[in-house]
Amino acid sequence: MSQSGIPTIRSVSPFRYPGGKAFLYKYLLQRLNVLPGGQRIYAEPFCGGAGAAVILLKLGAVEEIHLNDADPKVFSAWDAILNQPERFAAEIMSTPIDMPTWYSCREKVEGATHPSFELGFATFFLNRTSRSGIVIGAGPIGGYDQRGNWKIDARFNRKVLAERVRWLGSVSDRIKIFQEDALTFLSRSTTRLRLDRTLFFVDPPYVTAGGRLYLNAMNEGKHIALSDVLQSGTIPNWVLTYDDHPLIRDLYDTQDISDLSVSYSLQNKRKEREVLISHAA
Ligand SMILES: C[S@@+](CC[C@H](N)C(=O)[O-])C[C@H]1O[C@@H](n2cnc3c(N)ncnc32)[C@H](O)[C@@H]1O
Repeated sequence: MSQSGIPTIRSVSPFRYPGGKAFLYKYLLQRLNVLPGGQRIYAEPFCGGAGAAVILLKLGAVEEIHLNDADPKVFSAWDAILNQPERFAAEIMSTPIDMPTWYSCREKVEGATHPSFELGFATFFLNRTSRSGIVIGAGPIGGYDQRGNWKIDARFNRKVLAERVRWLGSVSDRIKIFQEDALTFLSRSTTRLRLDRTLFFVDPPYVTAGGRLYLNAMNEGKHIALSDVLQSGTIPNWVLTYDDHPLIRDLYDTQDISDLSVSYSLQNKRKEREVLISHAA
């Protein structure tokens, strides 16, 4: 238990995510605690590995989490875990963690547009076995020749990962997963959710994309549209993280903006400067 009285929890999500925001869960919990009592909801329009969301669910801080990601690979992985947890856990326990599997998964994800269990598992496999958790565009941990100090299975603890998947399966009725554009998800959420009891955590791709870490289906117009939606007053409670970019400082100049330093790679200790913008009605 930490001094704040909030238990310290390590990863619950089965994914690694470059720039993942699991570490913000204590801050988000404090934000949730000031919402009206009763069934609280947490929603992420750009969920990726949803590191913070699943910790909040595990802590019992929220009744439901609503996750959304436009990428069919990310959606497939979540959908497969939530709807077929036993099959997914069995794949984790039995799939050979080696270069032939890595190449075969890479073939499955390249150019894939239709969600499926196979695409979901291939995405998960690459996330756990590629450098920094990057699904497309990074090599395997340990290098193509597997001569590195760490090998391809360094981040693939079968038992731990299968347990995380089974736990997610056991609470799947409290996790909703969507594959929509974030702006569509936000606009539909206004009718799907009790907004006074919902905290939105919004973690979009950077305005300045520094390399292709994951899908970036945003552009300047959409960053502006997102700021219009968030600041229109329709959504009362939200927290937003972004790269520290002049466009963002300008768009949100009437909000509270604080600095945030986020780890992108454990290997080379790369950190990025981000900002955290928060709004409560
Ligand atoms: C910064 S990552 C989110 C990381 C996440 N907060 C975590 O802790 O794991 C951004 C995510 O947004 C998704 N994405 C990109 N453009 C999108 C869009 N227009 N609508 C919805 N999701 C999008 C990407 O696939 C990626 O998974």
